[in-house]
Amino acid sequence: MSAADEPANLRFLDLHPEAGDFRAEVLEGLADTPKRLPTKYFYDARGSQLFDAICALPEYYPTRAEIEITQREAEAIAVDVGPDALLVEYGSGSSLKTRILLEHLRQPAGYLPIDISKAHLLATARQLARDFPAIEILPVCADYTQPIELPAPSRPARRRVVYFPGSTIGNFTPDRAEAFLRHIGQVAGPGGGLLIGVDLDKDRAILEPAYDDAAGVTAAFNLNLLARINRELGADFDLACFRHRAFYNDALGQPGLGRIEMHLESCRAQRVTVAGQGFDFDAGECVLTEYSYKYGREAFAALAARAGFAVRSFWTDAAGRFSVQMLERVAR
Ligand code: AVI
Repeated sequence: MSAADEPANLRFLDLHPEAGDFRAEVLEGLADTPKRLPTKYFYDARGSQLFDAICALPEYYPTRAEIEITQREAEAIAVDVGPDALLVEYGSGSSLKTRILLEHLRQPAGYLPIDISKAHLLATARQLARDFPAIEILPVCADYTQPIELPAPSRPARRRVVYFPGSTIGNFTPDRAEAFLRHIGQVAGPGGGLLIGVDLDKDRAILEPAYDDAAGVTAAFNLNLLARINRELGADFDLACFRHRAFYNDALGQPGLGRIEMHLESCRAQRVTVAGQGFDFDAGECVLTEYSYKYGREAFAALAARAGFAVRSFWTDAAGRFSVQMLERVAR
């Protein structure tokens, strides 16, 4: 697409984020005891397709619950965000939730999605620019875990509100989640806010099927990480000899805190070669691939407070499984 064909309300900034070192991180994780693989590498093209399929599964409630809350509370959220705000989304903003927000916000000064995947970011930003011609769309290609200088919208913003949906915060350990919220507080700036999706702690009878569905889509998502390592790092994992395991662990020593753990279990003793290095697996040995933390209301409020945020609003879906929360930066 030539610059002349770009929607007039779109301004793109490419900060050329560095891709992580897949090889080094995989080798380091497999050399560790217990073995682990980095969660962020789930999302190659096939992994992203499988994740979209997970979001539509009957057992996987978070996506539907968050849409339900956003639809029902769109007006209240718009009041909390306030007029003339710059909405900064961590992620590419392709989802229905972003559209609901943009339809309800009061004269937003701009919408600024930040994503590491340039093609996806640009495609969704162009579509949003066409669908919301009155809103300035400022996509930034960057790694949002790193410090970023944000472009200013053409019309000055009254404040910045960061939007971090999907309970992606649950994929950070609590220590990292706290540090990350502190980083978001710096991006939001004085008087800034954070609109965040947080999955709630609950009965394992609901949680475990959400991460081990009957159709085997989450199993395929987990095993796809091994397929990616085979393809990109010249490894010889036999996918038939590893099994998806997902279980709820609530023995973390803190009330209102639990986590789903996803592992890949070796079905027999075997040796696998990755990038020329051999790794031995015992029968039944597990490789950790993901944590998905679940918070009680108080436990998350305490974590947010440690990071410099106070909870202004707290909404749940009708079943009380998931929350959307408006946090305000506390002046210090
Ligand atoms: C992206 N993240 C919030 C998902 C979750 O629920 O932790 C990833 C996922 N893993 C398995 N199913 C979904």
